[in-house]
Amino acid sequence: MASQPTPAPAANDNAARETLSITDNRTGKTYQVPIRDGTIRAMDLRQIKTDAEDFGLMTYDPAFMNTASTRSSITFIDGDKGILRYRGYPIEQLAEKSNFLETAYLILYGELPTEAQYKDWEYKILHRTFLHENIKMVMQAFRYDAHPMGMFISTVAALSTYYPESAQVGDPEVRFKQITRLIAKVPTIAAFSYRHIRGLPYVYPDNDLSYTGNFLRMLDMMTQVKYEPDPVKAHALDVLFILHADHEQNCGTNAMRAIGSSQVDPYSAMAGAAAALYGPLHGGANEEVLKMLTQIEHVKNVPAFIEKVKKGEGRLMGFGHRVYKNYDPRAKIIKRTADQVFQTTGVNPLLEIALELERIALQDDYFVSRKLYPNVDFYSGLIYQAMGFPVAFFPVLFAIPRTVGWLAQWVEMLNDADQKIARPRQIYTGYAERAYVPLYARANSHAA
Ligand code: CMC
Repeated sequence: MASQPTPAPAANDNAARETLSITDNRTGKTYQVPIRDGTIRAMDLRQIKTDAEDFGLMTYDPAFMNTASTRSSITFIDGDKGILRYRGYPIEQLAEKSNFLETAYLILYGELPTEAQYKDWEYKILHRTFLHENIKMVMQAFRYDAHPMGMFISTVAALSTYYPESAQVGDPEVRFKQITRLIAKVPTIAAFSYRHIRGLPYVYPDNDLSYTGNFLRMLDMMTQVKYEPDPVKAHALDVLFILHADHEQNCGTNAMRAIGSSQVDPYSAMAGAAAALYGPLHGGANEEVLKMLTQIEHVKNVPAFIEKVKKGEGRLMGFGHRVYKNYDPRAKIIKRTADQVFQTTGVNPLLEIALELERIALQDDYFVSRKLYPNVDFYSGLIYQAMGFPVAFFPVLFAIPRTVGWLAQWVEMLNDADQKIARPRQIYTGYAERAYVPLYARANSHAA
């Protein structure tokens, strides 16, 4: 039988179509929930109740696997296609044509700066690079072998005590000052932590150099009368900083937003974000990649290592991503940047192992079926190591540029009328009420 043509929807049907009908089989009631941007509001589910006493339906989404926690106009990622854009500009174009400070301005303000705006911005950043002398002493108090990321996190938190006005998070001018301070000072904190673990005197900033040139000088300066930063290294760092500047709602950024939602000052919030970044599943992965490559030791051991990973005995660090189910576009650019760096530093001997891991993994059904591709951390560590950075310093090199993303996301959160203090719900799985038992009457029945 020929099917009847479906009548064209009337214009006002469109609004009705942008809804989700939900039937609660417990009660037989049907609800209509609006759909906006492919999303329903979890709070719209609270009306779904079995009776007046019922709290209402919640969603259960550990690790935010399918929950948008915010609306954001900063960074766009299409994980299936391997696309990354800051404020609409493809990461490939920014890495090739922009520089880190310009990209930072773009991420924070939404537009590329005019020449005058750029000059002013660059001046403000490059002239706030010094740390209070007492902060230097705070850093000097760390053990000689302290992890530089532990020093970084603590020092960023300590800054809030030097800038008490930063607590006025509702004042855009105060906020702007802290933003420039943080972007300016994180390379100095990082460089001091680097010199500390090497037992070298701290080197003060030189505001005549570029952002990355000054950073290299604070790291490497020894007895030279005039330090000239290596342009290849300075450029490579600049590109790496652009690639790491923001990555929408990752673990560290989510921490920044969650902590910042309590209206605490940005130094305290950022210390928390940096702590999240430190973990081996996040920004600490580049450190883990290098440890893994060193342990594999030789390219002939790669197949056996892959087999171990497939058996669940450890992960292939630097592979896989919650959002990218394709080659991470940053990893592609890093691979190219590595070639330029290796031309001046010589090839990192671990590169051969990394390339073989990638070659085998990209053909192996375990990785292919799970859409596990190299992420940003797979090759970045190889460049950092070729540039002479110790492995423990890698997460700090990630935290410097990510400062920009954290701050942009923090401001966006503060200006977003939808946001409130971040406070998830839980499904309570513990005991119902029970009466206190005095010490003498307790049976020793549970494991301590
Ligand atoms: N090696 C081996 N198996 C993996 C890996 C890996 N690197 N990553 C994911 N899998 C497997 C995992 O075992 C699971 O398999 P199954 O379905 O059989 O249980 C499946 O792939 C899905 O993994 P998942 O853990 O559910 O995925 P996730 O989205 O929760 O985790 C990730 C994402 C990045 C934490 C994870 O891929 C991982 O641990 N990668 C290694 C660490 C790493 O490189 N992190 C840097 C991420 S990029 C930069 C950044 O965020 O800072």
